[in-house]
Amino acid sequence: MTLRRPFAPGSPDGRLVFGHASFYIWLVNQPNLWGTRMRIVMTGATGGIGLAAAKRLLAEPKVSLIVGARAPDRLPADLAGRLEARSLDLASLASVEAFAATFADDPEIDVLILNAGIQNVSDATSADGFELSFAVNHLAHHLLIRALLPHLARNGRIVLTASGTHDPDEDTGLPPPRHIDAAKLAWPKQDPDLDPRRMTRGRRAYTASKLANVMTARELGQRRPDLTTVALDPGFTPGTGLARDYPGPAGLIFRFILPRLVRRTARVSTPENSGRLLAALATDERYAGLRGRYMAVRGEALIETRPSAVAHDDALAARLWEDSARLAPLRTAPPQVRHEPTPVAAGRG
Ligand SMILES: NC(=O)c1ccc[n+]([C@@H]2O[C@H](COP(=O)([O-])OP(=O)(O)OC[C@H]3O[C@@H](n4cnc5c(N)ncnc54)[C@H](OP(=O)(O)O)[C@@H]3O)[C@@H](O)[C@H]2O)c1
Repeated sequence: MTLRRPFAPGSPDGRLVFGHASFYIWLVNQPNLWGTRMRIVMTGATGGIGLAAAKRLLAEPKVSLIVGARAPDRLPADLAGRLEARSLDLASLASVEAFAATFADDPEIDVLILNAGIQNVSDATSADGFELSFAVNHLAHHLLIRALLPHLARNGRIVLTASGTHDPDEDTGLPPPRHIDAAKLAWPKQDPDLDPRRMTRGRRAYTASKLANVMTARELGQRRPDLTTVALDPGFTPGTGLARDYPGPAGLIFRFILPRLVRRTARVSTPENSGRLLAALATDERYAGLRGRYMAVRGEALIETRPSAVAHDDALAARLWEDSARLAPLRTAPPQVRHEPTPVAAGRG
C-alpha cells in the first residue's frame, strides 16, 4: 500500500511504502496526531559532542530531530532510522541555502542547535573561496540562522557551540584571535599580520571563528530578544574528530589516546558529558530566556561565564553581523560578489 504527497513526504517519487522506516519517522513527527512535539534542527550531529547530544535528545519522547549532514544516507548506527537527515555541507553556501529551503513548508522549529565545527590547519578554502574554519564554523551558520529565523517558533531557542579558546584570558594552549574582522578572516591573504606558520594560522582561524560564534549569540540577543540565544563552551573534549586535519597521528591521538591520558578537571570534559549538557541547554526549561549569554561546561555542570573582552564589544558584534551577512548573503537579497577582492597593501591593517 502506498501514500502520495503531501501526506507522506520523504521519498523522491512521492510514493512511500508503509513498511519503510521513514514512514514511521514521518508518522511520529506529526504534531497533530501526537500532541505538542519539540522540533529540533541540528548541525554536527554525526560525531563527537553532537552525536552524544543527539542520542540524548532522541531519548526524549517529545523530541523530533532533523539533522543537516554531509552524508544523510550514511548516518552513525546510533542515529540511523531514528531521525530525519537532510543534506547539508556547511563548506558551501549554496548547500546551506538549499538545506534552509527544505523548511519552507514545514511546521515551526522550536530549537536550532548549531554545533558543527572544524579546525582547518591546511589552508583549505570553502566552495565560496573562504578560509574553511571561518566558512564552516561561522559564515555558514550565520546564513543558516538568517534563513531559518522566520521559521522559528515564538520563544524558540538557538544554541551555538563555541569554545573557551576564543578568550585570550583562558589558558587553552591555542593561539587566541587577534581581531574579528570578517573580511580578513574569510580571506586571510588580506591580513598583513597573518601568522607565517600554517598550524598557528589555522588554529588562530579556528579560535577567531569561535569568537564569532559567541558574538553571534550576543548580537542575536539584541536583535531577537524574544528568542533564547546562547553560546556554549563545551570545555576541552578529547575523543572527538576535531583534530582530524592535523598532520601525522595527531588527529588519532586526540581521538583515541588523549581521552585515556588526560585527567578530568573542571575544564576537561568527555563527548558524553558535553553532549549531555548541550542537549540540556537546548531543551531544559531552566535555560529558557537566556539572551545572548555564554555558558560553559565545568565538570558535570553548566555555568554562566563571561566571554572575552572583545566578545563584549556591542559595536564590533553589530559590525560582524553586517559584514557576515554581506559575505554570506541570503539568496533573496540583492546579488553580491562572493569572490576575493584585491588584497590591501601591507600595513594598512
Ligand atoms: N572537542 C573539543 O575539545 C571542543 C572544544 C571546544 C569546542 N568544540 C566545538 O564542539 C563542536 C563539535 O566538535 P567535536 O569536537 O565534537 O568535533 P567532531 O567530532 O569532529 O564533530 C564535528 C561535527 O561537525 C560536522 N561537520 C564538519 N564539517 C561539516 C560540514 N562541512 N558540513 C556539515 N557538517 C560538518 C561533522 O560532520 P561529519 O560527520 O560529516 O564530519 C561532525 O558532525 C565544534 O563546534 C567545536 O568547535 C570542541
